[in-house]
Amino acid sequence: MRIVLGVTGGIAAYKATTIIRQLTEAGHSVQVVPTQNALRFIGAATLEALSHHAVDSDLYTDVADVKHVQIGQNAELIIVAPATASFLARYANGIADDLLGNALLATKAPVLVAPAMHTEMWQHPATMANVATLRARGVSVLDPASGRLTGEDSGPGRLPEAEEIIAAALALTNPQDLAGRTLLITAGGTQEAIDPVRFIGNKSSGKQGLAIARAAKARGAKVCLIGANIGDCSREVDEFVPVTSASEIEIAVNSRLDATDVLVMAAAVSDYRVAEVSQHKLKRSEIGDEITLKLIANPDILRSAQDRIDSQKLSTVTVGFAAETAGSQQQLLELARIKLATKGCDILVANDVSGGAVFGQDSNKVAIIARNGDINIVEGSKTLVAERLLDSVASALA
Ligand code: C5P
Repeated sequence: MRIVLGVTGGIAAYKATTIIRQLTEAGHSVQVVPTQNALRFIGAATLEALSHHAVDSDLYTDVADVKHVQIGQNAELIIVAPATASFLARYANGIADDLLGNALLATKAPVLVAPAMHTEMWQHPATMANVATLRARGVSVLDPASGRLTGEDSGPGRLPEAEEIIAAALALTNPQDLAGRTLLITAGGTQEAIDPVRFIGNKSSGKQGLAIARAAKARGAKVCLIGANIGDCSREVDEFVPVTSASEIEIAVNSRLDATDVLVMAAAVSDYRVAEVSQHKLKRSEIGDEITLKLIANPDILRSAQDRIDSQKLSTVTVGFAAETAGSQQQLLELARIKLATKGCDILVANDVSGGAVFGQDSNKVAIIARNGDINIVEGSKTLVAERLLDSVASALA
């Protein structure tokens, strides 16, 4: 897609580099249009190198090309990140005294604006009124995230994460093929307590599950994310349920299953838990050189959800994940087919985690196998994997 990225003059301007990188890696063509003040924070050379396009912010060069309208007319999507209070005021009033302002007035493409500024400036009635004006005109304005700001202060005003900005922007152009559908997605890795301090855990970061949640939202779905030890993701979804252990996931899934169209079990769920969790911290001085922990099996949440779906004749589409240490792609596919059959799910996403690959990374290589025999090998960002998986989900729903 042809995307114009407007960058305005705030300290968060350097974060535009992450946005450019992620958009170009996903195959989009990105033309960066910084304001003159943005170039006080970040160099044109950096923006050119990352976007692979010449960067221009001057209204009065190459005038014969009529670029002040061409940029806006050619764009399929415009993102402004970060957007300063001053930019919001100019845009809300239709002021076109620089290249970005002209591009925005000349475009028919959807526009997403991601403001970043100090809390006082964000909450100032003038800024609030400008945001309300832009929203009323159909511009999508993200609320800033809360957290540490440039100085010692903290509060709402931070630029949201690049992934969140991109997902919200792409949602403006995406086919809404999951509109009206409810997705229940688990993400992260469970922790099974040994005592109040220790636990048995795993290496799952939750990035793939979160990428699926974001992509599903962008395609119009209502998303409930059950996050096992992945921090607060409540900004990103319709309902966020933070959990720690397998039994908490089980409760959260079971209580929502009937109202769910698609269950995606991306979380790495511990197969076992400690039989007797110590109420006080275990001490080496009391235990000595050896300790034996008795583990008991956790219920297989996906298998029991599938049993309930089958017995109640629900039409829920189910997606399981399998992390295998396979020696070859052929072996991975064989293991995946076996797991698809044991879990009984409609779609299985298998990845080879030999040597610790995948965990915590931004990219992934998976085999998406459907019950009808379709196989799709996908290699790339976790966002790309999420999109291809949701393609399979959308066709299973249809
Ligand atoms: O059997 P295995 O743990 O490899 O299966 C992985 C799939 O099953 C994942 O989708 C995971 O979320 C799910 N699972 C589950 N309950 C468990 C263990 C895994 O639902 N106790």
